Amino acid sequence: MTVLPALAAIPADIVTLADYERRAVHHMPAASWRHIQSGADREITLAANIAQFDALQLLPRVLADLSGGSTAIRLLGMDLAAPMLLAPLAYHRLAHPDGELAVARAAAALGTGMVVSTLSSFTLEEIALASRAASRELGRDPAPLWFQLYLQDDRERSAALVRRAEAAGYDAIVLTVDASLKRSGFTLPAGIAAANLRGLPSRSQTGIAGGPILFGTPLIDAAPTWDDLAWLRQATTLPLIVKGILAADDARLAIEHGADGIIVSNHGGRVMDGLPTPLSVLPGIAEAVGGRAAVLVDGGIRQGTDIAKALALGADAVLVGRPQLHALAVAGVIGVAHVLHILRAEYELAQAQLGCRTPAGISRAHVLDAQNGG
Ligand code: FNR
Repeated sequence: MTVLPALAAIPADIVTLADYERRAVHHMPAASWRHIQSGADREITLAANIAQFDALQLLPRVLADLSGGSTAIRLLGMDLAAPMLLAPLAYHRLAHPDGELAVARAAAALGTGMVVSTLSSFTLEEIALASRAASRELGRDPAPLWFQLYLQDDRERSAALVRRAEAAGYDAIVLTVDASLKRSGFTLPAGIAAANLRGLPSRSQTGIAGGPILFGTPLIDAAPTWDDLAWLRQATTLPLIVKGILAADDARLAIEHGADGIIVSNHGGRVMDGLPTPLSVLPGIAEAVGGRAAVLVDGGIRQGTDIAKALALGADAVLVGRPQLHALAVAGVIGVAHVLHILRAEYELAQAQLGCRTPAGISRAHVLDAQNGG
């Protein structure tokens, strides 16, 4: 497969991420679509994630000298073409047979970082090879690849995953801490599995009516704690990022336990309803972190202006979740590359309209809260 087939493969009426989302429903089985799109319970948090971006307005600044400007950033020692990465998502093959391999190629072609899930449907080694091959083919520097870890039932298994990621050339480890008590009722279609965990026993589901739900089940005993973060810190020399932080005090604790970065996230509204939106807690967390660690945010990024809004409220970069699967389902590798290009182009226009030569120039002064008048 060439890295990027002709852009002509994209229908001319697809110009925004919303166009991909509208079409994607027709490109996968109904159960997979519901699994990807859904949120917890009444989906109030899921909807709020997006609504809050919409409620913020950007304040442009005119006549600024933008010569020599760029959207590029350096994050944890890595170069990114724009302040965005692809969020870790399980089982990309639900959206397209090429799954994570296509996403990795597209991300490498566009200089975008990719966070690969523990629950990827190709192995982490296969994904790294696809990414590096695409960079080589295009004569580009390798794009950052981060490995997202779900801690396994025992430390040796977790350590084995980290060692595999290190050996395959991953640049950072992302520990997701917000989903360990959640079990999905979704059944994977035949032929799709957690490729990294082949041969390991699958974890049991709980939920017999009248029986224990969480407390008193093995799920609680196996759930990670701060001790596990301290253990992971000494188990790898790679930069360590903790994903799923919503409280400023937890951001402080993560740094005390050795995190180099945090991802402010409610897991795209999938774990629990009634959580704060990432945007509402971001300013307080950025203040608590005070530049001691990188601050990333995800949940509801659907256009380039959303990236500018997140930066204005204190993020160094954002992660993009579901839209990568929408594009993958509709058009495979070229769809994902197109979405990354659209986001970058929309963000670049926003940064320029805000009068900022670099992403770091975007500040709180560039947003108004339309609902609260401030
Ligand atoms: C996720 N997310 C996720 N996070 C993680 O750390 N490991 C994972 O395996 C997954 N898997 C996953 C599957 C699907 C289908 C979705 C939609 C989400 C959460 C993800 O990284 C991210 O936090 C959200 O998707 C961000 O919200 P948006 O951009 O989808 O609104």
